[in-house]
Amino acid sequence: MECAACHHDENLPASYGDHAPPGAPNWHLPPPETKMVFIGLSPRELCQVIKDRGATGGKDLAAMLAHVRDDKLVAWGWAPGGPRSLPPATRADTVAAFNTWMSAGAPCPL
Ligand code: HEC
Repeated sequence: MECAACHHDENLPASYGDHAPPGAPNWHLPPPETKMVFIGLSPRELCQVIKDRGATGGKDLAAMLAHVRDDKLVAWGWAPGGPRSLPPATRADTVAAFNTWMSAGAPCPL
């Protein structure tokens, strides 16, 4: 089945319960060649992946910043609905930190 058969453009109202399918525009998995490339990495590895256009679907750093800042499917991660946990930093703080990091030349931790 297509994801969008169950996942619509936004989360369903809370009255649907904790286990209703969440939603955001363009709900999909990454393509097989770059599947969830950011999972289980050390900070250094994650930094290197963000800068590797072969792993980001061709996105350079500016496009990665826009991805985090503007993409509605990415935004869903900060408003997943139900009992799902939230990232440790807000989206605004994450975008600000990304900007600071880019301005400093996007160095990777050792
Ligand atoms: C037949 C309906 C259905 C289809 C098709 C479906 N999902 Fe879901 N999905 C659900 C439901 C229901 C939940 C909520 C489950 C829960 O919270 O217990 C869910 C939850 C999720 C979640 C959230 C998991 C979490 O951490 O809580 C993700 C991500 C997800 N689906 C991705 C996808 C993707 C990507 C596709 C297509 C490749 C897809 N789903 C297709 C019904 C579906």
